[in-house]
Amino acid sequence: MQQQEFQKIYNQSIQDPEKFWADVASEEIEWGKKWDKVFEWNFPNYQWFVGGKLNITHNCLDRHIKNGLGDKIAFIYTNENYGRIAITYAELLLQVNKFANGLKSLGVKKGDRVVLYMPLVIEQIVAMLGCTRIGAVHSVVFAGFSDKALRERIEDLQAKVVVTATWTLRRGAKKELLPTVEDAVKKLECMEKVIVLDRDAVAARHGAPSKGGMPRHATTRRIDYNRLLENQSDTCNPEVMDSEDPLFVLYTSGSTGKPKGIVHTVGGYSVYTHYTTKKVFNLHQDSIFWCTADPGWITGHSYIVYGPLSNGITSVIVEGVPDYPAPDHWYKIIEEEKVNVFYTSPTAIRMLRKHGEEYCQKHNLSSLKVLGTVGEPINPEVWQWYNKYIGNGQCAIVDTWWQTETGGHMIVTLPGLPQKPGIAGLPFFGIEADVVNQEGQNVPAGEKGFLVIKKPWPSALRTCLNNQGRFNQYWNEIKGVYFTGDFAIKDADGYIQILGRSDDVINISGHRIGTAEVENALVAHPAVSEAAVIPKPDEIKGERMKAFLVLKDTALASEDLIKKIKFHMRHEIAAIAVPDEIEFVPSLPKTRSGKIMRRVLKAQELGQPVGDLTVLDK
Ligand code: WT7
Repeated sequence: MQQQEFQKIYNQSIQDPEKFWADVASEEIEWGKKWDKVFEWNFPNYQWFVGGKLNITHNCLDRHIKNGLGDKIAFIYTNENYGRIAITYAELLLQVNKFANGLKSLGVKKGDRVVLYMPLVIEQIVAMLGCTRIGAVHSVVFAGFSDKALRERIEDLQAKVVVTATWTLRRGAKKELLPTVEDAVKKLECMEKVIVLDRDAVAARHGAPSKGGMPRHATTRRIDYNRLLENQSDTCNPEVMDSEDPLFVLYTSGSTGKPKGIVHTVGGYSVYTHYTTKKVFNLHQDSIFWCTADPGWITGHSYIVYGPLSNGITSVIVEGVPDYPAPDHWYKIIEEEKVNVFYTSPTAIRMLRKHGEEYCQKHNLSSLKVLGTVGEPINPEVWQWYNKYIGNGQCAIVDTWWQTETGGHMIVTLPGLPQKPGIAGLPFFGIEADVVNQEGQNVPAGEKGFLVIKKPWPSALRTCLNNQGRFNQYWNEIKGVYFTGDFAIKDADGYIQILGRSDDVINISGHRIGTAEVENALVAHPAVSEAAVIPKPDEIKGERMKAFLVLKDTALASEDLIKKIKFHMRHEIAAIAVPDEIEFVPSLPKTRSGKIMRRVLKAQELGQPVGDLTVLDK
């Protein structure tokens, strides 16, 4: 897109966002019934396409089949072990319908919550779409979270069903998932059924030696995924959903307390993710798209599942890590599948860069047209490397800033616009973003401030599950605007550079984790009396975590205790919540009112000036 054209469309979209989004919604999405009103705002709540009726699976599947694309490949799955599985749009719809009917046979109805704890396999996508087909609300929990974290989410959701698989693959090893799920649902009253995908059976169908079926000790609640689908009809009419019916809940960390369940609704999310996928990645009907995220995060929801399917393109999904079995594993896939659009995280790019460009050069990557990044700021040198060695200097680089709460891309340099390495770019169509001070006033170009969004957009979160108060905070932190929690700088051209979180959230490899959440879990260890966690720069992960711990008994301090605490953290939350470093200290710096001064710890740790210490309680 040329700059002038972009400016023209952007200006129109801001002058009359309702007209802009109504036009997009009419042109790009099929509705069972059109909306009565485009937008309604009763601060802080808002609605989009009020009164509209649709089902997102119709737009993702049925309409493409109706348009003659049934035989087109929707997903190509591959992993480190057993080759390649491709599924067409028509086959995907049959699977989704069977799964949807399977859920119905278990008594799952519109509005019921279903939790997914699955590896990145086609069946996960089938399960997500199977839920939305019948109006059940899915909540995908990344299959790296602990039983405890999973249990908390299931309870908050009051979910009836969990869908899981026997194992996931990681660096050649099978990581068991089922024991975690069994522990999570033990004696949980809301939980009725656990649907289990027997992956050895799936692998056997695709040529791998079978390791002998489902593990024993099955509880009565356990149901085999394939057996559930076996006798189901492959037709299932999509449930007629209201625009503002919930589509899914996804948990994310905040600066205080436990993770919050971000609620997205059907209409606005459908429109916004469809349109951003199309524009940001400059899609064509024959585009081959590969987003390396996992559906356990918002990136997977919007840009593996809903956005790409709604656009009717072919996607690649890969279970595993970037550099196993070899450092050129991902390049091999790009070459073999002739990937045109590649979307990954700065952490992954830094890892690939560390292995060296000789691995890129072994492969023909000339199919690539657009390279995307997401999750954390990308260092200019890493941007340059991505551009030069993976993109061969021929690709548009799209650094996409957004959040679980925003549902879709918010700030990006669209393909064709002048690029600035390390700077995300301009607000997307219909988005008014600004950089302001605490009082909400604009800060001058070139100065650091808080990134805010001035008005609701179609895929903005609608609430936090069971906690409207936490939702309200987004719009009240700086009165009247959406508070992103990020620091940013706007330059004279209006380009926005993201500097990182302004709140107590740490971003590790593009994944959010709240210091409060981590500290609470640390203090739950019997040896720990107080804890403070700070981020430190990390060459690969972006940020790493250091924990300062005050022990109940200083004599307990030992290497062995550090190991035990790390194990405890894995069990309390997940591997991403395990501090990289742990230091035992006699006390923590606090204000006179008893608040831990993390900024003092951080400054000391990084050898920076500690600043104003007048409030420090000495
Ligand atoms: C936080 C949101 C959106 C999907 C992945 C993360 C950081 C995200 C960028 C980017 C700099 C970024 C922000 C944001 N972030 N994208 N392109 N440049 N920072 O979703 O877990 O909800 O985290 O990730 O700090 O607030 P999330």
